[in-house]
Amino acid sequence: MTGLRITGWGSALPDNIVTNADLASRIDTSDDWITERTGIKERRIGGTTAEHAINAGRAALDKAGVTPDQIDLIILATTTPDRQVPATASTVQQGLGLSCGAFDLNAACSGFVYGLVGALGFLKSGLDRVLVVGSETLSTIVDWEDRNTCILFADGAGAAVVERTEDDGDLLGFSMSSDGNLEYALFAERGGTLEMDGRAVFKNAVLVMEKAAHEAMEMAGVTPDDIDHVIPHQANIRIIEASCKRLGIPSDKAITVLDYTGNTSSASVPLAMVDALEAGRIHKDEMVLMVGFGAGMTSAATVLRWSADT
Ligand code: COA
Repeated sequence: MTGLRITGWGSALPDNIVTNADLASRIDTSDDWITERTGIKERRIGGTTAEHAINAGRAALDKAGVTPDQIDLIILATTTPDRQVPATASTVQQGLGLSCGAFDLNAACSGFVYGLVGALGFLKSGLDRVLVVGSETLSTIVDWEDRNTCILFADGAGAAVVERTEDDGDLLGFSMSSDGNLEYALFAERGGTLEMDGRAVFKNAVLVMEKAAHEAMEMAGVTPDDIDHVIPHQANIRIIEASCKRLGIPSDKAITVLDYTGNTSSASVPLAMVDALEAGRIHKDEMVLMVGFGAGMTSAATVLRWSADT
């Protein structure tokens, strides 16, 4: 069997912190409302998608102890490419001094998890190492006068180096889906800003996260009791808690960073992953469920048995 092993990780956030109080000084909202409805206290805003991806990618290469010539492909998950053409992945490739294939992947907030599954396929096809990055500058497509959306979205990046193994590797099961009937719930027209039906997103997010997680666990041959850590998409603490409850996984197993990152779409799962690793929360041989959902509506989950020393 050919598998995938995560050997390096890194993240990057802009320096500029925007608190709920900062937003409340500009629009009709409050720290209490945002905290209670979402769990978000502050978010980081600024920079470009490529800059964040390069910083996170460089940290991941360092952690993996690999040189640029050892990377065979970059998959950059993003909904906010810096330009229409070329792919922002090409800018990241140049910035990191790599010479390999590079492409963007847009599966909204499920993007990083889609990227990991895609990387497994490329490793099975013969590549040795793939850099998977989730990077966003959602602040560039948010209407800062719209209190319905601007309180949620933010900027940042997370990255992982994944390597081919000759055994089953870390990734034991996965699920990917999309339901175009729900496109209306969250979208941005070309050149436009994000428009959202928050209640529709909330209701469907809980359903698709549960379904994706169950499918990935079934493929991996594990049950909710076997899961040590959940790394969910960081959209809303209430969505995370409701999903954990439906899955029968204690919500204290969920890793959350949204209180200080906000919703960073493709970057949110790797940002939470890196935060947990740097805090020493994930240990070798523990079972990790990553589960994302987003515009599309897409969803994706992976079950990983963590093999890297942390
Ligand atoms: N500050 C204060 N009041 C606000 C507000 C804000 N930022 N945004 C909306 N409100 C008001 C509404 O106008 C409404 O007022 P009304 O009752 O007078 O009409 C009231 O708060 C309730 O609005 P509602 O939309 O029903 O709130 P909610 O409990 O559904 O919470 C969200 C709104 C957006 C926080 C919630 O629906 C949500 O998180 N949905 C998922 C969104 C998401 O995760 N998107 C990204 C997916 S990747």
